[in-house]
Amino acid sequence: MNISNKAFLSPIHEYTDSSFRLMCSKYGCDYVSYPILNAFAVSHDYLKLSSIDVLQEEKNLAIQLCGNSPEDFQVAGTKILNELPNVIRLDVNSGCPSSNTREAGGGSALLDKPETLKEIMKTVKKLGLPTSCKIRLSNSIEKTLSVVDSVCNEVDFLIVHGRTVKQGYSGSSDWNTIKLIKERVSIPVVGNGDVKSKSHGLQLVSEGYCDAFMIAREAMSNPLAFSNIVINSFEEELKLFNEYYELSKGTRNENLFNLKYKALMFFRGFSGSTEVRLKISRVKTVEELVEMLDSLRTKILVTA
Ligand SMILES: Cc1cc2nc3c(=O)[nH]c(=O)nc-3n(C[C@H](O)[C@H](O)[C@H](O)COP(=O)(O)O)c2cc1C
Repeated sequence: MNISNKAFLSPIHEYTDSSFRLMCSKYGCDYVSYPILNAFAVSHDYLKLSSIDVLQEEKNLAIQLCGNSPEDFQVAGTKILNELPNVIRLDVNSGCPSSNTREAGGGSALLDKPETLKEIMKTVKKLGLPTSCKIRLSNSIEKTLSVVDSVCNEVDFLIVHGRTVKQGYSGSSDWNTIKLIKERVSIPVVGNGDVKSKSHGLQLVSEGYCDAFMIAREAMSNPLAFSNIVINSFEEELKLFNEYYELSKGTRNENLFNLKYKALMFFRGFSGSTEVRLKISRVKTVEELVEMLDSLRTKILVTA
């Protein structure tokens, strides 16, 4: 995989569904990922791959697995290979800060067990698909680099979120440490944390901080972050939301909870958006949501 200068959509639990991934791909995102999937549950058939939200037409799709047992990754990875032919990469989550994931020994708990992480990556690599490992920073540079050194020979590339587990999602991503990692390893590094747009990501690449970039929260409210298109009016946001709604039709993503969540994230940053979000939060059905947004369009167009 040549990932130089490429744009990645972050795996985002309960957000980056198939409809959203298709939309980001359409607007310039090069690589997408199914969010955190429990390797134990897949390997022991508690979770069937036939039940997960992956569409055949999705391109450049990775699956992100989490867990702490190389055997679970081996079995889960083999099932993915056999059952999901459009998956082109397996990613291992070594950064999730949630207590549930950590208590089960996965996600960022693996940062404290570099040897286990190395074994997992070796196992996943043997399956034959390109592999990546998504890490966070540890509390000290030395510890971060020891994790990096353990895995860098076992993966095709590293994805580095420049925050520590303690930081969660607050504070800033430490791009100087991401750069240090990039300069240390011979594999490509995807930098992640606070990237606002494609041009911002490409600037970080050109300044030597990373080889490619990954966007999470900015893309949640603006899938056009991967393009050079800038939108800042209700009318344009509505067009974008309706596009997502159309993509969701006939999929499991066409449900009130998800569509409200997406609408609440999309309708931000323009004059009157607070009022629009209040109205969104009050609707009780999908039809009501769509009609309410459409009626606002008419109102805003008439008064414009
Ligand atoms: C709601 C939410 C869910 C997330 N789920 C995942 C996940 O499933 N897997 C993962 O590796 N990272 C997950 N992340 C972390 C993001 O992928 C990303 O690393 C982080 O938000 C930093 O990027 P940003 O500053 O662009 O938001 C999640 C983040 C948020 C806010």
